[in-house]
Amino acid sequence: MREDKVKVIIDCDTGIDDMISFALSLASDKLDVIGVTTVAGNQSVDKTTFNTLNALEIMGRTEIPLAQGESHPLERPLEDAGYIHGETGLGTYCFEQPTEKKPVEEKASDFIYKKLMESDEKVAIMALAPLTNIAKLLMEHEDCKGKIDKIVFMGGSIRTGNPTPVSTFNVLADPEAARLVMQSGVPFYMCPLDTTKELYFTDEDIEEIGKIKNPVAQMNYQLCSFYNATVNESNNAKARFKGLCVHDLCTAAYLTNPECFTGVKYYADVETQGELTTGMTVIDYENIMQKTEEERNIVYLDSVNRERIMEEYFRALRSYTK
Ligand code: RIB
Ligand code: CA
Repeated sequence: MREDKVKVIIDCDTGIDDMISFALSLASDKLDVIGVTTVAGNQSVDKTTFNTLNALEIMGRTEIPLAQGESHPLERPLEDAGYIHGETGLGTYCFEQPTEKKPVEEKASDFIYKKLMESDEKVAIMALAPLTNIAKLLMEHEDCKGKIDKIVFMGGSIRTGNPTPVSTFNVLADPEAARLVMQSGVPFYMCPLDTTKELYFTDEDIEEIGKIKNPVAQMNYQLCSFYNATVNESNNAKARFKGLCVHDLCTAAYLTNPECFTGVKYYADVETQGELTTGMTVIDYENIMQKTEEERNIVYLDSVNRERIMEEYFRALRSYTK
């Protein structure tokens, strides 16, 4: 095992782009994935758990333990993203041989706590979903903060939004959790929609994926086709974006290839009450509040080298055998 591998726990709501991101994360020799946790978001937690267990199976990583997490946000009912990810969370894709693998006994927040405290080094958390599990971890286990290297989160925005003009799904689904985590003092790296929309697949990329004849690539190809249709129907994607944005893949790539990103420290908070603005990440990018370097609580990832990440993604996709 590479000595300098990044220890990471992936928290997800699989979900089409979560699944696509696993193709990179679970093949990368840069990551030591010590656990995966699931949460309600794109779909119910039962569905996101089933999808993620089967992701570990199809990618040959069933040795990685999975813990199921929260079934609803901290203070509000779940409003899922079935209109994008479909009834199962994975469009029309069906697993030919569903896995026998089951979640571990502990719930996600307790599982993450256990993995953090037993690790002899700090652990990164790749947060690809609403932050309900991570908020629960910090609420129930205050003493774990020092063992978290950083939280790398898909969500937030300055000049865009999805599904509202100012909010992003992973924040809007559970704004109270997002606010608690961003204000917790744990190093928080935001991979915002302003940047993840720059990590897109063109039609040619999708055709290239379809030419790779292994089960993981063929799954990715089928997922992209469904995703392309639903995002265009629901959030005017064709007019707004350069291609099919794969938000969670961009976020995962920060942990496999941080050299492909730039970032800047800002102060940020989350709106939880506004009729039009609930779920908005209010990011003080002009430092109007004159916060010190220390008080600026997020690293905002403001650029990505798309070409390099696409090379890494295709290399990973081709590495899966039949
Ligand atoms: O806004 C996109 C994010 O919300 C992605 O993580 C997607 O999977 C959904 O969870
Ligand atoms: Ca997700």
